[in-house]
Amino acid sequence: MKENPSRTFVTGSRGLVGQALMRAFPDMQRAPSLRDWSEDGVKRWLEAADAEAVIHTAAISDVGQCERDPEASLRANVLLPLCLARNCGERKLVLFSSDQVYTGTEREGPYREGDARPANTYARHKLEMEERVLEACPHAVILRAQWMYDMPAQRRTYMQLVLENEGEIRMGRQFRGLTWLRELAEHMPETLSLPGGVYNFGSETNLSMDRLTEGLLRFLGRKEAVLPAPPGHNLWMDCGKIRAMGIHFLPVEEALKRCAMAAGLKKE
Ligand SMILES: NC(=O)c1ccc[n+]([C@@H]2O[C@H](COP(=O)([O-])OP(=O)(O)OC[C@H]3O[C@@H](n4cnc5c(N)ncnc54)[C@H](OP(=O)(O)O)[C@@H]3O)[C@@H](O)[C@H]2O)c1
Repeated sequence: MKENPSRTFVTGSRGLVGQALMRAFPDMQRAPSLRDWSEDGVKRWLEAADAEAVIHTAAISDVGQCERDPEASLRANVLLPLCLARNCGERKLVLFSSDQVYTGTEREGPYREGDARPANTYARHKLEMEERVLEACPHAVILRAQWMYDMPAQRRTYMQLVLENEGEIRMGRQFRGLTWLRELAEHMPETLSLPGGVYNFGSETNLSMDRLTEGLLRFLGRKEAVLPAPPGHNLWMDCGKIRAMGIHFLPVEEALKRCAMAAGLKKE
């Protein structure tokens, strides 16, 4: 890592992504909680922290919660990142957006960065955040992440949903990427030297969710059938832009197997 990890600060360090990052890079610093942030408070913290870079993971990441409380979503998911962007000066700022920005696209995908068309409050706020942050801070790096999983994890992710099922799994013919948190965390230092802009960021696949799930279960020697569910809107991303910058994720199907092996669910 070019940057000094002890001068890289992580917001939301107790969240799903934040914890994975702190596990991978224990020398990074935990930013204070920003739930009750104010512009002055953020400014004072950035000056006192002597930060070289800020990786901003703090957010309301629950799509349903954003729909129920759009004001809270606006404050956490647009105005807080914008405040960081306004006050970060020369510091590198890396922030998370989401594949949800593709929820309203008419094409089947995979989607490139220019295809965003959000169809829910969380997604609209993420896209608004991207635009306003880049206007305030053109060197900010915005990563559109997708559904992330790990085993173990502090909350139910895709892995728990599939492996702790009660004999019945329902999964539709939806095309979307899934990203192993450990792999995402390991790539984060590389994102600190990317040029400013928006990047699709995660593992890619040509398989639909039902096929991916079937593949994982068979790999683990499990017999459950994957039952059909209504297909969801595709969210799969074309990550060619980040690949062209030298950041390569494992294909989804391979990363799922590696995660399962790392968790001791299958011996080689
Ligand atoms: N998880 C996914 O699968 C996924 C997928 C795509 C994109 N993303 C995006 O990736 C980023 C990280 O996601 P995550 O799953 O790690 O998030 P998370 O675990 O839900 O939350 C991360 C942290 O956000 C802070 N936070 C919660 N509510 C807040 C509020 N109202 N105002 C300010 N801060 C608040 C908390 O940190 P403190 O305890 O320090 O206050 C929390 O630990 C987010 O931007 C999310 O939208 C996540």
